[in-house]
Amino acid sequence: MALRLGDEVPNFTQASSEGEINFYDWAGDSWVVLFSHPADYTPVCTTELGAVAKLKPEFDKRNAKVIALSVDNVESHKGWIGDINETQNTNVNYPILADPDKKVADLYDMIHPNSLNNLTVRSVFIIDPKKKLRLTFTYPASTGRNFDEILRVIDSLQLTDNHMVATPANWTDGNDCVIVPTLQDPEVLKEKFPKGYEVVKPYLRMTPQPNK
Ligand code: BEZ
Repeated sequence: MALRLGDEVPNFTQASSEGEINFYDWAGDSWVVLFSHPADYTPVCTTELGAVAKLKPEFDKRNAKVIALSVDNVESHKGWIGDINETQNTNVNYPILADPDKKVADLYDMIHPNSLNNLTVRSVFIIDPKKKLRLTFTYPASTGRNFDEILRVIDSLQLTDNHMVATPANWTDGNDCVIVPTLQDPEVLKEKFPKGYEVVKPYLRMTPQPNK
């Protein structure tokens, strides 16, 4: 069965461009972005993996590790990394899992045969430090992903976990947030939101972003 939000994600041990990885050990107490791409030496994937390398400092700031995957082997990954570095002006600074036996792809349901036969589609999994799945989405092979959006979602999830706020439509860092509906105790509200909040409707309460 496909993984659902809130599920504990499965562990695995698999080869990568940076040696063998036991996923849980490698993740440690970090957030993780696990993302698959269809194949090495393909144009859109080359731009995607380059974009992620450039954003690595942003993932680091959020205590998030990134790891890519395709069904190609380690040798192929290593050769292709040279091309990514050369053409995208970067240094691939995170591991790419090699999944020729499709072990991880099957565990995470990354192969959608009616879209792309035998190759992984563009799946994304955001996993929290407790190994719970917090976001998943799937893009077609022909559309490169927006990795700024992935950072935005990590920011939103971390705001919810740390400050009991959710983020409204098209929220970006610094915009007002929504107080989670479960929070009703007036004392806790006063303590959590010293900058105050606006009750637009009893169920819609806006507050300045708490960590700004
Ligand atoms: C690409 O990365 O450009 C790509 C990969 C597989 C199918 C289509 C495009």
